Amino acid sequence: MEFLGKPRSQRAAFLPLCLLFLKILHPGHSHLYSSRYAGDKVIRLIPNTEEEAYALKKIYQQLKVDLWQPSSISQVSEGTVTDVHIPHNGSRALLAFLQETNIHYKILTEDLQKVLEKGSSLPTQRSRRSVSGYNYEVYHSLEEIQNWMHHLNKTHSGLIHMFSIGKSYEGRSLFVLKLGRRSRAYKRAVWIDCGIHAREWIGPAFCQWFVKEALLTYRSDPTMRKMLNHLYFYIMPVFNVDGYHFSWTNDRFWRKTRSRNSRFRCRGVDANRNWRVKWCDEGASMHPCDDTYCGPFPESEPEVKAVANFLRKHKKHIRAYLSFHAYAQMLLYPYSYKYATIPNFSCVESAAHKAVKALQSVYGIQYRYGPASSTLYVSSGSSMDWAYKNGIPYTFAFELRDTGHFGFLLPEMLIKPTCTETMLAVKNITMHLLRKCP
Ligand SMILES: *[C@@H]1O[C@H](CO)[C@@H](O)[C@H](O)[C@H]1NC(C)=O
Ligand SMILES: *[C@@H]1O[C@H](CO)[C@@H](O)[C@H](O)[C@H]1NC(C)=O
Ligand SMILES: *[C@@H]1O[C@H](CO)[C@@H](O)[C@H](O)[C@H]1NC(C)=O
Ligand SMILES: *[C@@H]1O[C@H](CO)[C@@H](O)[C@H](O)[C@H]1NC(C)=O
Ligand SMILES: [Zn+2]
Repeated sequence: MEFLGKPRSQRAAFLPLCLLFLKILHPGHSHLYSSRYAGDKVIRLIPNTEEEAYALKKIYQQLKVDLWQPSSISQVSEGTVTDVHIPHNGSRALLAFLQETNIHYKILTEDLQKVLEKGSSLPTQRSRRSVSGYNYEVYHSLEEIQNWMHHLNKTHSGLIHMFSIGKSYEGRSLFVLKLGRRSRAYKRAVWIDCGIHAREWIGPAFCQWFVKEALLTYRSDPTMRKMLNHLYFYIMPVFNVDGYHFSWTNDRFWRKTRSRNSRFRCRGVDANRNWRVKWCDEGASMHPCDDTYCGPFPESEPEVKAVANFLRKHKKHIRAYLSFHAYAQMLLYPYSYKYATIPNFSCVESAAHKAVKALQSVYGIQYRYGPASSTLYVSSGSSMDWAYKNGIPYTFAFELRDTGHFGFLLPEMLIKPTCTETMLAVKNITMHLLRKCP
């Protein structure tokens, strides 16, 4: 198994490992997720008045829709676009309601199951590709990602060190890669996490891409060399390991962790509402069945606690916190929990502005940028606000492609362009750190 482009002769040695990977079946066959999304639709709606917004909230609750954008019913408001995934048995009721009330809507996806099955590559395709090199242009299961990390830890020990910061609710290891040239001198660091929300698969794909690019271009690209010589990158490719695994095996649109609740049947906590910063206030839910459930107490989730502990311990060195989400095409910075301007706003704002320009320079993809509260929506208990409040001066959350056409089902074809452009933004932000902010 070739991970980065080694000469052909070395490939044979990895063949047993390669065959091992092939055993992990990609859900690319006809009974994908037991066909549970057959006939489900994704609909985009824009309530034009307060009354329409109120009516929509009510029917969303009744029909138990899966909100894609925004992430909670409380954030549905007049003039705001909402994308909802409506189960097949509720879509007739919703469409009838929309026609009756004249609320503007557009069907983004007629049949979610069909899109899922078209979008996933067949196992045979994957195996063919796997022989010629590790494929960074497909989504990888948790097992594949962890095997990949172990492999890099063995083969690139000069630049990579893999370690665990704890265990998930279901007992999986929480692995982090420390990337950078090892030197005794004091080095500042950048934290990067992907996959806080399980269904946002482009996140982990980007984390893998970042590591690949770093290792491939360390020698040839002066910017990358500077980054890895002067900084350490702590990279957590899958933050919410239990949820990510569940999104491969059971529910493609699972968002939360998988922890149990003593009083409710619903499982999971929103790992981006579980941090001790204005915890469980606006934009978070106290109800365990909601997708933005804040949890029984701050850091109740072992995954959140492990990362918070790590950041607390290393905050003197960590200069930047970057978190990768999808979808919206936005680059967000604090605050999430309130409408207010952060101190040293101009430094952060100019870093974001330049990063977005750099991103756009590749394929012309436009990102909005600004404080999360006013650019996306208000949400309390987020990791970004927490990192900022705990002394990390540059904290950002990326909402990667797209703006809703594919939503969470961003086709594998778009992994490469998405990661290529995002790479430039991340390098730009990182180089900004190495200079003194005006
Ligand atoms: C749709 O089906 C699910 C389970 O099959 C059920 O829980 C739900 O109440 C149904 N919704 C409607 C609107 O009938
Ligand atoms: C990574 O490799 C080092 C040896 O280079 C080893 O000590 C460490 O345990 C490895 N990490 C993991 C998580 O296996
Ligand atoms: C960052 O992006 C800006 C705007 O595109 C560009 O002018 C600058 O050269 C970039 N800096 C680095 C280090 O990539
Ligand atoms: C703002 O910038 C100053 C000077 O660079 C620095 O001392 C201070 O800690 C910064 N404040 C925050 C909240 O980052
Ligand atoms: Zn997210």
